[in-house]
Amino acid sequence: MSETHIALDRSASVAPVNRRLFGSFVEHLGRCVYNGLYEPGHPTANEDGFRLDVVELVKELGSTTIRYPGGNFVSGFRWEDSVGPRENRPVRRDLAWHSLETNQVGLDEFSRWLKLTDSELMLAVNLGTRGIDEALDLLEYANHPSGTALSDLRIANGTTEPHDIRMWCLGNEMDGPWQTGYMTADDYGKLAARTAAAMKMADKDLELVVCGSSGSGMPTFGEWERVVLEHSYEHVDFISAHAYYQERGGDLGSFLASSLDMQYFIDTVVTTADHVGHKLKSAKKINISFDEWNIWYLDEHKASDEVNDEWRYAPRQLEDVYSVADAVVLGNLLITLLKNGDRVTSASLAQLVNVIAPIMTEPGGPTWRQTTFFPFSVTSRLAAGEILRPRIQTGTYETAVHGDAGIVDAVATHDAEAGRAAVFLVNRSQTETETVRVDLRDLGVQTVEEALSLWDEDVYAKNTLQDQDRVGLRANATASVADGVLSVELPPVSWTAVSLG
Ligand code: AHR
Repeated sequence: MSETHIALDRSASVAPVNRRLFGSFVEHLGRCVYNGLYEPGHPTANEDGFRLDVVELVKELGSTTIRYPGGNFVSGFRWEDSVGPRENRPVRRDLAWHSLETNQVGLDEFSRWLKLTDSELMLAVNLGTRGIDEALDLLEYANHPSGTALSDLRIANGTTEPHDIRMWCLGNEMDGPWQTGYMTADDYGKLAARTAAAMKMADKDLELVVCGSSGSGMPTFGEWERVVLEHSYEHVDFISAHAYYQERGGDLGSFLASSLDMQYFIDTVVTTADHVGHKLKSAKKINISFDEWNIWYLDEHKASDEVNDEWRYAPRQLEDVYSVADAVVLGNLLITLLKNGDRVTSASLAQLVNVIAPIMTEPGGPTWRQTTFFPFSVTSRLAAGEILRPRIQTGTYETAVHGDAGIVDAVATHDAEAGRAAVFLVNRSQTETETVRVDLRDLGVQTVEEALSLWDEDVYAKNTLQDQDRVGLRANATASVADGVLSVELPPVSWTAVSLG
């Protein structure tokens, strides 16, 4: 058994916990919307056709902002198809996922679903096949109070109050050749700048997200951000980042250290954005909206035929079943987002239901929590006050992909007013239990209120339709505080949260 020492210091505050870091993502893809959160015939469905058992799990998950309606889907989407009387809405082909889109769920219905879950909408506009005009139309339909053609249309469609959407994404992954209408950084940067400027003429307080890179491995990574921001800097507020991780070739050690790539990604984008800001002599800072992040077994999906030549309604696509190891990595990615909370001020776990999701459903049947549900929901519930950057002394191990990685990674939050703190930790060792001692003396907290760990003898254990509760949180009875120092033992390949008061 080896030991890790962590020091927490109030003066090492990163930023206040921003609830937008616990955002999620709903795309019209596979069974995320249709036969996922929307299933009119289901015994728990409400008058809009939304499953209330799913709503309950979404609330327990603690997600905040929801990005919608895509993803790759948005780059071919005509928003007008999805408003007004449902019987008049056209069925269209969605080229991104080669599926049929019935348009039975659109902005107005989805906004009502968001009210059930108490979430904020972050809406994406189509800059793949469309442009400024359609973005302005959607903005008018969504946010203008009344007395114009499109706001009155919304009212006639039954939504009297404006949706008042604050965050808007200017397209999706426009750097990716897979994107409908993908562009060079120069072309996209100009279009995004013009669209953003026009949208802000309608409402100067909108918060706009320009597309960054689809991954740190993109050939244009870094240069894309520079060029796009040189065009759009003064008109936008965020630049997006997307990252997905998976275990490859049985290299669990590298996979467990995936957060090092996320840190590299964030550092590179912040440096590039600040470089452009200096160059333009701008007083403003561009923050990151990490609006797609997760574990995704993309290689396996590419090799499958789940996206095929048939035009199907709500096909089973991207339905990863997550293991304990996946959940530990997800918990570590969330630790990394928190650690960078001064510049990453919005994030969306991609996605929410069925599609690479923490929540699964069966048509006409149950809904259940994947392993990845747990670190997300507990972190969202316990993180409060200021984020503290910990000083960590831990051993390292060598990885093939990321170089040396720390055995333990952690972050903490401190709510001085409530007199509470929370520490979130991972143990990346595959063989050793790690004893961690956390110096809390500067925080004035004395007792362990709750200590929960996620681990299993089988790191590949999963929750499935047949065995929905195979993996869950376990009370960690080793956590205790003596003389202002928290001691806790972390099993191999585990995620832990300790709340203190
Ligand atoms: O989340 C799944 C897909 O991943 C999204 O549609 C796209 O933006 C990304 O490539």
